[in-house]
Amino acid sequence: MKFPPTSPPSGALSALAQHVAQQGYGLSATFFPPELALALSREAAAFFAHEALRPAQIGKGPTQKQREDIRGDRIAWLDGRQLSGPLLSYWQHIDTLRAYFAQYFRLAVPWVETHLAAYPPGSFYRRHLDQFRATTNRAFTFLLYLNEGWQPAHGGSLRLYLPEGPQDVAPRLGQFVCFRSDLIEHEVLPTQVPRLSLSGWLRRDEVPLDLQTFTP
Ligand code: OGA
Ligand code: MN
Repeated sequence: MKFPPTSPPSGALSALAQHVAQQGYGLSATFFPPELALALSREAAAFFAHEALRPAQIGKGPTQKQREDIRGDRIAWLDGRQLSGPLLSYWQHIDTLRAYFAQYFRLAVPWVETHLAAYPPGSFYRRHLDQFRATTNRAFTFLLYLNEGWQPAHGGSLRLYLPEGPQDVAPRLGQFVCFRSDLIEHEVLPTQVPRLSLSGWLRRDEVPLDLQTFTP
């Protein structure tokens, strides 16, 4: 199936920005069309089946290490220049989000980083904040869940820690979540079944120049 360049519905985009501004997070089940979410779910399942995903690391630089007692997911980073089909359409939706948030919040967020993630049965991600200590590069976190036929017994909900108390979000196919990376602590509750998602961040810093691939 071909996915022409598409954008999220403008109503979903403005509601999301308003909710993030007012309460630090927003949810939308209509940001991505259902057929695109389904195609993305198939892509993610294929990645997972081929084990192209690598174990996620904690921290950055010399302190980066793999800690399955903190997070148990496998990830594959996406490069927007190399995408096609549903992943390209996903990227275009996210870039529309990026441009809209930049204007809405009057904040330069020139860079998107995003990866596929697969949590094997029994895995989780302990409570954390997405900003690394002493850096403020990640301004907004976004998550798209890709689990068709999700049931409460499958577990793996996202728990957001809000001032009014915790709120759980089921990782259902097509559920999109966005929140302030500097503000909202969250965790992934243990999943009983393989749990697929696309996660990413709108970043305040520039894309690093890659001199290996740069051609004048
Ligand atoms: C993360 C994260 C939450 C989720 O990757 O930093 O918190 O629901 N993911 O997958
Ligand atoms: Mn996180």
